Amino acid sequence: MSSEPIIRVTDIAWIRLRSPDLDLQERFLGDFGLIRSAHTGNALYMRGTDSSHHLHITEKGDPKVLSVAFWARSEDDLHKLSREAEGASVVESIDEPGGGKRVRLTEHNGFGIEVVHGVETLPAIPVPVNTLNFGNAKTARAGDLLRVEVRPSHVKRIGHSVFSTPDVEQSIAWAHRHLGIIRSDDVHAEDDPDKLVASFNRIDAGDDYVDHHVMMFALHPHPGLNHISFEVQDIDELAAGHDYLIQKKWHHIWGLGRHTLGSQIFDYWKDPWGRMHEHWTDSDVLNCAHDYRRHPRSQGLKSQWGPQAPQEFRDTSSQ
Ligand SMILES: [Fe+2]
Repeated sequence: MSSEPIIRVTDIAWIRLRSPDLDLQERFLGDFGLIRSAHTGNALYMRGTDSSHHLHITEKGDPKVLSVAFWARSEDDLHKLSREAEGASVVESIDEPGGGKRVRLTEHNGFGIEVVHGVETLPAIPVPVNTLNFGNAKTARAGDLLRVEVRPSHVKRIGHSVFSTPDVEQSIAWAHRHLGIIRSDDVHAEDDPDKLVASFNRIDAGDDYVDHHVMMFALHPHPGLNHISFEVQDIDELAAGHDYLIQKKWHHIWGLGRHTLGSQIFDYWKDPWGRMHEHWTDSDVLNCAHDYRRHPRSQGLKSQWGPQAPQEFRDTSSQ
């Protein structure tokens, strides 16, 4: 990507949805592994075990995907973005729990994007970390017993968002110019190397390692949210959380499996209004030494193990 972006965001911050029933939304998100940090009567704020004040906002009203937020490096970057990005809001104070400052943008497909800075943090919630024995290293847990409880996963943080878009190249270009996001891997149609069907894009943090993707675009005739994704500590957290969500009879879509591009172990669920939420663990992390690559669909989008993507996953594009 040759052109210089306006700013480079440092991570994804939260998803903002709208739902008619905040109690039902909280029941799903609680079973999924998020914890309430605030409730104003008109909006629900849910956190993970890391220190972010919230990762997930639901406003009360007709179902809608409102926006995805990203962290700016500084308040100066918010001012730069507000000055230079076409259609950007002024730098405004966020009149919500956690406070902070933000600039609002509208992506070329009409998706809401918030770029935020200075939001309050909360003390992290301590979570026990399992030690695993491996075939070639069997004494890591010598003498200690491993017991895994079936309960909601401990969600640590938000990891990435995936948007459906009719024009993958245009979406990549918009995200690069406004957010400084760069390509990790692209996927092209099996019979046409020039036709992109998906693109995985990461934070540009130079030598520092970041998740394989923070924003992905998937070709679809109707723009929308394919899924929003949250990191859990390890495979036991993910698998026990899966069993818990099955017990609670939520709508399972796909998993468990391991992706090829990004290598995450994954599990996908829909909330009561059809918005897909993913648990993942064990992502590849990349830095500027990574060589951008292109892959045919049959290689790029397959599971390394576990089931292949069902049609419902590929069709999902929530408005
Ligand atoms: Fe994902």
